[in-house]
Amino acid sequence: MEKLVVYGGKPLKGKVAVSGSKNASLPILTAALLTDEKCVIEGVPNLRDITTMIRILRNFGMKVIQDGHRVSIDPCKYTSTEAPYKLVSTMRASFCVLGPLLGKHKKAKVSLPGGCVIGPRPVDLHLKGLRALGAKIDVEGGYVLAKTRGLRGTSIYLGGSFGSSVLGTANVLMAAVLAKGRTVIENAACEPELVDLAHVLLKMGAKIQGHGTPMLIVDGVRKLGGFKHRVIPDRIEAGTFLLAAAITNSELTITGARPDHMGAVLDKLREVGVQVQVRDTTMIVRKGNPSKYRSVDVVTLPYPGFPTDMQAQMMALLCRTPGISIITEKIYPDRYMHVAELGRMGAQIKMEGACAIIQGVDRLKGAPVMASDLRASAALVLAGLASKGTTEVHRLYHLDRGYDRVDQKLVALGASVHREKTD
Ligand code: EPZ
Repeated sequence: MEKLVVYGGKPLKGKVAVSGSKNASLPILTAALLTDEKCVIEGVPNLRDITTMIRILRNFGMKVIQDGHRVSIDPCKYTSTEAPYKLVSTMRASFCVLGPLLGKHKKAKVSLPGGCVIGPRPVDLHLKGLRALGAKIDVEGGYVLAKTRGLRGTSIYLGGSFGSSVLGTANVLMAAVLAKGRTVIENAACEPELVDLAHVLLKMGAKIQGHGTPMLIVDGVRKLGGFKHRVIPDRIEAGTFLLAAAITNSELTITGARPDHMGAVLDKLREVGVQVQVRDTTMIVRKGNPSKYRSVDVVTLPYPGFPTDMQAQMMALLCRTPGISIITEKIYPDRYMHVAELGRMGAQIKMEGACAIIQGVDRLKGAPVMASDLRASAALVLAGLASKGTTEVHRLYHLDRGYDRVDQKLVALGASVHREKTD
């Protein structure tokens, strides 16, 4: 195991380039299951979740070569349509192999992903959509057993109690592109990562309209070809670096971003009083006066609302923002494992159901803390950067699941952080 040792109190300085989006890369990698032709994906970040997904594709018998940020896939001859528990249980996104396997191979055996610390992570909407397309789906021994004689287009409402489902939409979309006839998906997710997936499917020959809106229209085709695609930049990594600059009151330039995917985060930061200039794909955070920052209320919502994947990082900043701020987590009401850890650093946070009430403090103090999920670990690193003294973020594998060498990027910006092995 490893921990990240963070010596706080130092301002950051310089430029950082945003990596490719993890949450776009993962479903796009599974899109290769829909074709017999070669696929090349550029700009794929180097992180654990990508490695896991590549292992899953290789497990199906696909030839996958990862060369830096390029992943080349030759579907060649599949030997299996089974995604085993030992792989799926480590990364929920692997569940989105189900739709393409059903669409292309008309059968699949995929382990249920199970829950994680941010919540139970159900898949009822995925299964509802695939059943509506005509798949026979049984759940046995922790596995989803799915088969079909041929999927047929239909109308599906895919909204759940927490709104739309990102990977649920991806799964149903990737099944529908090879179904017979037209499929209409209502309350589809609009996240930029799904729009990127739709762009890949269109390159493969799929017929899709309405991507990026809650109403997706798909006209099934008989066959899909290969593709070459560069994934969009990671809006959550870019947002995490915006917060790193704000919480350390640093001037930072973030390049290779898509500010047009980050409206809610930019708006909320400006409401706090953080000065961010946007020019094309570059964002510049200016030094501010943190004592003049204003407390705000944040509610996490499906895109284009404030992203749940930025909630923990925003909380770290609000722990240092004068006044009382309230965060309401509407996507994963239990996504607050970072609260107790921030409390160990002197943060004043009171929980009321799915709301966190944060009383800003002048200073946070370094302490040993435990990462619990990939975004909470990022929040603890941010808090450490702004703290007096040393912070040790344990169970660093959580951070490595979602960020491409973030510690090296922080060192290049002047942060004093380093990894250490723990027992
Ligand atoms: C994606 O997960 C992201 N993961 C998550 O990012 C992100 O937090 C989440 O979307 C929400 O934006 C990837 O893209 C790989 P959902 P996903 O289905 O698709 C409920 C990260 O940090 N729901 O949109 O699994 C669910 O419980 C990760 O990179 C059902 O009720 O999330 C949640 O409350 C963490 N039934 C809400 O919907 C279902 O069948 C949104 O979940 C599916 C979901």
